[in-house]
Amino acid sequence: MTTPPPARTFHSYEPRQGHGLPHDPFNAIVGPRPIGWISTQSATGATNLAPYSFFNAFNYVPPIVGFASIGYKDTVRNVQATGEFVWNLATRDLAEVMNQSCAAVPPEVSEFDLTGLTPLPSTRVRPPRVAESPVTFECRSTQILQLQGVDGAPVDTWLVLGEVVAVHIDTALLKDGVYDTANAGHILRGGGPADYFTVGPEQLFRMYRPR
Ligand SMILES: Cc1cc2nc3c(=O)[nH]c(=O)nc-3n(C[C@H](O)[C@H](O)[C@H](O)COP(=O)(O)O)c2cc1C
Repeated sequence: MTTPPPARTFHSYEPRQGHGLPHDPFNAIVGPRPIGWISTQSATGATNLAPYSFFNAFNYVPPIVGFASIGYKDTVRNVQATGEFVWNLATRDLAEVMNQSCAAVPPEVSEFDLTGLTPLPSTRVRPPRVAESPVTFECRSTQILQLQGVDGAPVDTWLVLGEVVAVHIDTALLKDGVYDTANAGHILRGGGPADYFTVGPEQLFRMYRPR
């Protein structure tokens, strides 16, 4: 770059001392984020479904995804008990029902029943897939880590990592065999109480790595 950096005024803060703003900007900055819409089963076979936007992919081969549960929620308990979970792609047409599935209900109440979504049997794990979702990953848990702060003190947050052992993609989303992210209807979580983003062809730009 040949132009000098722009003159800026920064709002700077140390999170442990507070952000000094009307809303914590952290989520809005690290965003928009993909949503881990996670189905699990309890040790006794009760089915659970919940969204986790502290979610991402962490490895290519083998594919590994992870999500963080702030507090030890039913989903983590189920993964710890069974070693399995399923990730379901949340799309714009499923946004409202995905949101409903975050309701805090007792473990014996299935969010499939609550939302009217259809459980579809998985091929390699016991938790069902969401039949309405066009892409699903069947996962086996590889690590469950309790997070800790820089002071070494444990945080009440649990990072669940799992290897994707089976993938199901609606063939309508494969254009000449290439997954069509721009037209799959992905939704992403922004900050604040209600911000979401859609992804479409208008957001696509291409840039190749330097040789
Ligand atoms: C879009 C969205 C993203 C969410 N992301 C998270 C998250 O990353 N971590 C978390 O602990 N809770 C998150 N929640 C809240 C959980 O979905 C909610 O606590 C849910 O009841 C947990 O269900 P469970 O106890 O069945 O696992 C999110 C909710 C929504 C709607």
